[in-house]
Amino acid sequence: MLDFSDFDTRGYRTVDVATGYGQWVGTYEDTVEDVMDLALLEELTAVDWGRLRHVADLGCGTGRTGAWLRQRGVSGTLDGVDLTPGMLRVARAKGAHDRLAEGDVRATGLESGAYDLVISSLIDEHLPELGPYYTEAGRLAAPGGFCVVVAIHPHFIMASGMPTHFTDGSGEHIAISTHIHLLSDHVTAGLGAGWRLVEMREGIVDGRWLERKPQWEKYRNHPVSAALVWQRDGAA
Ligand SMILES: C[S@@+](CC[C@H](N)C(=O)[O-])C[C@H]1O[C@@H](n2cnc3c(N)ncnc32)[C@H](O)[C@@H]1O
Repeated sequence: MLDFSDFDTRGYRTVDVATGYGQWVGTYEDTVEDVMDLALLEELTAVDWGRLRHVADLGCGTGRTGAWLRQRGVSGTLDGVDLTPGMLRVARAKGAHDRLAEGDVRATGLESGAYDLVISSLIDEHLPELGPYYTEAGRLAAPGGFCVVVAIHPHFIMASGMPTHFTDGSGEHIAISTHIHLLSDHVTAGLGAGWRLVEMREGIVDGRWLERKPQWEKYRNHPVSAALVWQRDGAA
């Protein structure tokens, strides 16, 4: 397993997930770039968003993913789980979800076999191992159900040496515990949990990124994000 500390070029003080997002929440939505995850979700073709009846949004954060799903026509129930209370408060105010619960994506307490989509955006780098996530997603999924995972690309984390981080009120850059999962780690964990990979996209540092982050010119055309779409066997 790769250790982020072997790639770290920043040396920021590192905090755990709940501490980090608890402090980042006030500025989170101003700093997260839609081109990292929502632009990739837009490219996916395997999921007919408008037909989904029950969706579990694991690591729902402030509700960005939930709001995107609603815009894409998801009218069924949408349940969100996250372990940071402050992020959930923002999601509650946003109102995209029907139910929001404080919990861990690896043991959500949600109903087994009930969801035709389990989705997680930008959370896998906070999990030391992927197996427990894909296993829990598999428990939640109905026959024929999908699991969509959007991730910061492992190549980008390694090439940039940058952990997931934010800047606090005093100007200190603070890292949130970051793990590197190769795409083959996703494939191994997903297949091991009984999922079938049906679609995959990778985002690169393109003109949209360079407009926002001209200092990333040195990463032009490097992969920066990835989306994987998994499906359970069985009739939907
Ligand atoms: C970068 S945010 C992404 C939030 C949202 N999906 C989005 O795209 O904006 C990561 C979120 O994952 C949550 N998180 C990380 N590890 C988690 C875990 N093991 N269980 C539940 N939530 C977790 C954090 O609290 C945080 O809200």
